[in-house]
Amino acid sequence: MKSKKRDFLKLTDLTLDEHHGLFRRAAVLKQARRERRLVRTMAGRTLVMIFEKASTRTRLSFEAAMLQLGGSCIDLSASNSQMSRGEPLPDTARVTGSYCDVVMMRTFADARIEEFAAHCAVPVINGLTDGGHPVQILTDLFTIEEKLGSVKGKTLAFIGDTASNMGRSFTAASSIFGFQLKLASPGGYHPDDDVVVPAHGFVQLVNDPHEAVRGADVVITDVWTSMGQEAESKKRLSDLHGYQVNDALMKLAQPNALFLHCLPAHREEEVTASVIDGPQSVVWDEAENRLHLQKALLEYMVIENEKRQG
Ligand code: CP
Ligand code: NVA
Repeated sequence: MKSKKRDFLKLTDLTLDEHHGLFRRAAVLKQARRERRLVRTMAGRTLVMIFEKASTRTRLSFEAAMLQLGGSCIDLSASNSQMSRGEPLPDTARVTGSYCDVVMMRTFADARIEEFAAHCAVPVINGLTDGGHPVQILTDLFTIEEKLGSVKGKTLAFIGDTASNMGRSFTAASSIFGFQLKLASPGGYHPDDDVVVPAHGFVQLVNDPHEAVRGADVVITDVWTSMGQEAESKKRLSDLHGYQVNDALMKLAQPNALFLHCLPAHREEEVTASVIDGPQSVVWDEAENRLHLQKALLEYMVIENEKRQG
């Protein structure tokens, strides 16, 4: 009997065991690529990518992942499809699902990707929404574990606009993966209660960035103006002025603390060039790991769905 397909729209759509399984498989796939061993687990399968916001890493890493695994990939930009001319989303979702094996979508409201997924017959992966960036957070945790061992019990400090999709995803991850998270933001830039309350006991909201980074194992930031917030950028620049990750702030963290940023970054705004291009920054490994982690995720979502459908 056919069972319902599964999507990956938010972290809790997979269990902690499944997340750890993805990390293990990503490490194997990373090593295979290093050794130029071909892995063709997605042969005959097609990924459709739908972008309603700009992207460099997500577009390239998902397409490269699918092609390197022997599959094929179609990139549908909303702006030059019928989506921009008002075709109902459920109709687009239904048709898309009949052509491919998995969909990756980047959009604005979480309700929109949920509506798409509800009408699409194949697994849908969230490639960033206003509410979260689940493939990026999994990649970030995989990167931290590569460098520092288990993230469980570690202290992470997120500085700046902690209400951003990345801040929200780190908050959601804290209670699942068991790390302490300090979120340093000015008033109005912390995540809402619906995100913070489920992470009770793992997340601490502070205003002082120095307090947040003191003794931290990992320091993280994100842009101050996320996609869709451009009209507020002047106000954000002024409100978040004191929340730049710079050398003085990094000195308060553990001596070998890692610096993470999902990119794109604005040097001399949320982070100085000395930090992002400095020895503690792991942003290039973090960006590369999108490829390996998403290969593991694509394999898992597609193959698991085929087994479920019989
Ligand atoms: N980090 C990330 O998702 O980058 P892009 O916006 O370039 O895809
Ligand atoms: N918070 C950023 C992340 C970009 C990958 C944005 O949504 O624009």
